[in-house]
Formats: sequence, structure tokens, C-alpha cells
Amino acid sequence: MNFIIAVDGPAASGKGTVASVLARHYGFPYLDTGLLYRAVGVASAGNLSEAAKLAARLDPASLDNPAYRTRQAGELASQVAASPEVRDALLDFQRRFAANPAGAVLDGRDIGTVIAPGAQAKLFVTASTGVRAERRWLQLLNQGERVTKEAVFADIVARDNRDSHRSAAPLVRAKDAALLDTSEMTIDHAFREALRLVELARSAPQGR
Ligand code: CDP
Repeated sequence: MNFIIAVDGPAASGKGTVASVLARHYGFPYLDTGLLYRAVGVASAGNLSEAAKLAARLDPASLDNPAYRTRQAGELASQVAASPEVRDALLDFQRRFAANPAGAVLDGRDIGTVIAPGAQAKLFVTASTGVRAERRWLQLLNQGERVTKEAVFADIVARDNRDSHRSAAPLVRAKDAALLDTSEMTIDHAFREALRLVELARSAPQGR
């Protein structure tokens, strides 16, 4: 069986950073599944019937686009991500990615619950809303977006709410996911703690 590391959590929790460093450490490919929804959200401008069609023919090679990292793209992603048709259309690609023979790291909202429920290691990465808003605000400023911290805070609260309360694959911690609260952690600290949790899962007997 290959070794899948599933990393889920709310917006700006640090899950992407933790996931990409884990992938580098283990030499596994890494998929930021949020980019799939961001790409579909941007291309469809949030139109749900368009979004389902676009999701079915999304080219995963085209995901490396700064336009998908904007504040508006995050909002559009969250809108189209509530559509079961969009989610279904993106399922196969994510499952095939996770089936990489050696292993894979995927981050998102439903990796440990829907995409790879059998993943050997599951992390649920979180941080306080204030810390997440601060991180996202700094990231957007660095990208050249002019926005207030209060607006980013409001965005995050609205997005958490939508992602957690939708009926299709809501953001929820899998029962067997280890919680990693990065509120007080540097990137290095979060990575070391994530590594410890993954190694713990790796050494646990199969069929926990
Ligand atoms: O970086 P951030 O956490 O803000 O967002 P992201 O991971 O890029 O995801 C953007 C949006 O896509 C989320 O708010 C979710 O609505 C949606 N998403 C999802 O529904 N399922 C996933 N596996 C990944 C993202």
C-alpha cells in the first residue's frame, strides 16, 4: 500500500506550508487541491453550471497561475466548491494523484474524509481566526493586493462558515486525524510537529 498523507484544515491555517514541506521531506508529489477549485472558480466566474463543465475538463498542468492566489479567487473557489457536480468532476484526478505508488501528500478540506479516507496519516491543521486573518492579510499584501485586515478577517469567517456548513463534503476533522494547532508556531515548529505526528501514524499498526 502506498503512503498517503492527508492534510485538511480551514483557510490560512498553514496546511499548505506543512503539506509541501512534508512532501519534500518524504520525496512524495504534493497536490494543493484548493488550486483545482480556485482554477474552476476563476474560469467560471462562480457560475455553477459553467463550473461543472469546466471542472470536467480542467487541465491540472495549468494550475501554477498567480491569478488563482488572489482574494477573489479564494471566494469564487469556495462558491463553486459547494457544488456536488464540481466536486464529482474533480474526484478522479485527486484519487489518481493519491495513488502514486510510493506515496503522496494532498491538502484541502475533504482529503481525509472523502478523497483518501484510507490515508495512513491524517492531519487537521488549524489556527485561531485572528492568526489566520493576519497571515492571509500579509500574504495578500505581499502579492500586491490592497485590502484591510478587517476585510480579510470577515472573508475568512464567511468562508469557514460556508465550507463547514455545505452539504457536499463539508470541512470537518476526520475522526482519525491528528489535530495540529499552528497559532503559536513558527513554520519550522509546525513542520517538526507535523513530522512527529506523521511518523507516529506510520509506526501505528494498520487498521487503526
Ligand atoms: O488557501 P486557502 O486555505 O484559503 O484556500 P484553498 O485551500 O486554496 O481553498 C479555496 C477554497 O476551495 C476553500 O475555501 C474551499 O471552499 C475549497 N476547497 C474545497 O472545497 N475542497 C478542497 N479539497 C480544497 C479546497
